[in-house]
Amino acid sequence: MEIDIFTLFPDAFAWFERQRHVVGALARGSRLGYVNYRDHTPLSAGQVDDTPFGGGAGMVLRVDVVEAALRARYGRDPVELGRERRVIVLTPAGRLLDDELVDELAREAALTLLSGRYEGFDQRVTDHFTTDEVSIGRYVLAGGELAAMVVCDAVLRKLPGALGHEDSAFEESFSKALAGAPEYPHYTRPAEYRGWRVPEILLSGHHARIREWRQEQSRRRAERERGAPEPAAPEP
Ligand code: ADE
Repeated sequence: MEIDIFTLFPDAFAWFERQRHVVGALARGSRLGYVNYRDHTPLSAGQVDDTPFGGGAGMVLRVDVVEAALRARYGRDPVELGRERRVIVLTPAGRLLDDELVDELAREAALTLLSGRYEGFDQRVTDHFTTDEVSIGRYVLAGGELAAMVVCDAVLRKLPGALGHEDSAFEESFSKALAGAPEYPHYTRPAEYRGWRVPEILLSGHHARIREWRQEQSRRRAERERGAPEPAAPEP
């Protein structure tokens, strides 16, 4: 997987690149590249943004600046770029990132992520240069860098070999293996702590029954998310 991140703050990704699963993904051949809009702006004094037409607060990233950065990286008209790779603009108004979208993105060979600051991008960037608008949640961040890291994190850990134990991505929250439900609870030693016992079933060594219990827990969490009343808990 090759991911290019367009940003005004490439340094913000230094911590992210040190995370174990990211280091692992890079060692297995994935690549993260950064393009700073400011390095390619055709305007004087490193200008990248401007005030919005029609008035209003904040600054808007300019379409000519974004085009220059995309051209510098890919050497062609960014209008054509969408034919060969997904070009994703990070915006609170985009399609909500969920496990299905992460799977979809993880199947791509290459991604381009555009993160913005201020009031976001001139709409012509979205209309003409991008294939997708993605949001990591219905709230507004100060910029798209954290959102880009969230997308990269979720996508890179889906790639083959990313997790020590292949099953841990297979049967995790929202996966098909759990019918899109949240994952069941996990416990580890000590089996009893301050009187709080781990469910006996997990200590039983009964793999089939443990599996059933986990699926039931996962279903209950899904119901709780939907706001359904919780059934009385049977003894495990
Ligand atoms: N940029 C600012 N807020 C965002 C959000 N919630 N998702 C994606 N990009 C953003």
